[in-house]
Amino acid sequence: MSDDDTKDMVETVDVSPRDPDVPQAPGADVFRQLLHQAVRVADMANSQAMRMALDFAKVYEREQSVRKEFENQLKQMTLMEKQATRYAEDLAGMLRSERERRQELERALDQERIANEELRRTGLQGISHLLLAATIKDRTTGTHLQRVRRYVEAIAERLGLPEELVEEFGYSSVMHDVGKIHTPDHILQSEHHLSDDEFSVIKQHCIDGEKMLGTARFFETARGIAREHHERWDGKGYPDGKKGEEISLAARIVSIADVFDALTSKRPYKDAWSAEAGLKAIEAGAGERFDPEIVAGFVALAREGVLERISSEVAASDADENSGSSAK
Ligand SMILES: [Fe+2]
Ligand SMILES: [Fe+2]
Repeated sequence: MSDDDTKDMVETVDVSPRDPDVPQAPGADVFRQLLHQAVRVADMANSQAMRMALDFAKVYEREQSVRKEFENQLKQMTLMEKQATRYAEDLAGMLRSERERRQELERALDQERIANEELRRTGLQGISHLLLAATIKDRTTGTHLQRVRRYVEAIAERLGLPEELVEEFGYSSVMHDVGKIHTPDHILQSEHHLSDDEFSVIKQHCIDGEKMLGTARFFETARGIAREHHERWDGKGYPDGKKGEEISLAARIVSIADVFDALTSKRPYKDAWSAEAGLKAIEAGAGERFDPEIVAGFVALAREGVLERISSEVAASDADENSGSSAK
């Protein structure tokens, strides 16, 4: 019922007496006013109730949508959580298999390291056997080879080569004359001037040495040294007449160490030169017989006393070995 309807209803309430002659009751106006007031109050209460109901409906609606949104978010979160769990599981699986692969690889590397070490040891053993044969055959000595090795290592180190290469050049240098096993004794031990024919037989020791050292990677540097240690920087050496950097670095180093030690050592056919005289001969050969840069390094080592220290250390260890073996 609208406000207007209520007003009409109040207006139509007849509180006048039935008989027009009877005077109107004295409380009629008051009653009408009270009725009006009651209707107004009822209207106000009604519209307030309506407003409250509408407000409540709005709040309810809002809450419903908030709840729906919350439920949606919860669903999404649950989905994300599931996905995250799956990712975590996948990742853990990947890490596990990666770890297993790495362990396998490490095991394989370990085995390879062991195999390489064994190969190295076998190679070094082979070298000492070859050297024993060479020193018996040639009139060279074990100390000559030890000094050459130490000089070569010192030069290589001075040239800034990596440690493995220094070691490789060192052990490879001791095989420089291994091919002399094939050279006939009468030529090898001749104290006379060699004829051209005899000299061409001597030259053969470079080629024989390279052949004897086979094809193993372990002897690659040694093969180069055996073949090239009599080549000269100016190309006038043998057996191939290689010149300059055509000759391997290892062979260029060994030729200096070998000649210097041969000059400064006593041999049955000659006296030992002084270190100073030997060094002068090497310096004189720079750019002709020897690589000038390596000569410069070698001279520096001599000036620093390194060559002298090596020579006396080798002599001391040789004396120790001899006194040990004679005591047995
Ligand atoms: Fe030689
Ligand atoms: Fe030698």
